[in-house]
Amino acid sequence: MSKVAPELHSLLNAQINNEMTASYNYLAMSAWFENTPYGGFAQWMLAQSQEETTHAMKFYHFLIDRGAKVELAAISTPRADFSSPLEVFETSLNQEEQVTTSIHQLYNMAEMHRDHESKNLLNWFLDEQVEEEKAVQDMIDRLRLVGDNPLGLLQLDQEAAQRSPLIDTTTHEGN
Ligand SMILES: [Fe+2]
Ligand SMILES: [Fe+2]
Repeated sequence: MSKVAPELHSLLNAQINNEMTASYNYLAMSAWFENTPYGGFAQWMLAQSQEETTHAMKFYHFLIDRGAKVELAAISTPRADFSSPLEVFETSLNQEEQVTTSIHQLYNMAEMHRDHESKNLLNWFLDEQVEEEKAVQDMIDRLRLVGDNPLGLLQLDQEAAQRSPLIDTTTHEGN
């Protein structure tokens, strides 16, 4: 028997889709970077893509733990082409701000239904969104600072490369 109110249930399911869409969009950004000299940014975006999948899974397991049905929906085709590293990160910030808005809507709904367990889950996401928006904004600020300077761009790329993906997906061999 589901312990989640129907309105909240459908928003939680929609959030699985939002997080998976974010994951897929970041993967497309990573793929775009792979065909540029910026391997570090490619790695940063791959790590971010994997993190978004773990976010989707938090909602997925929460629904199951609360006896509510998981309903997966289609993910739209991600944008594949960009003009510069700055444009990619600006697109990323835009996406994070949209996700933050959806977390706010979920939080409001959880409050309306006095669903304390959902609020507890969503509190984690509020913190996470603050962190992610800041990380992306910092990168945008520094990309704007270096402009078209190749040395500056490569320096930022090297910094981005310090972030490791959660899972190594680089092997072409089967298990
Ligand atoms: Fe997320
Ligand atoms: Fe995110």
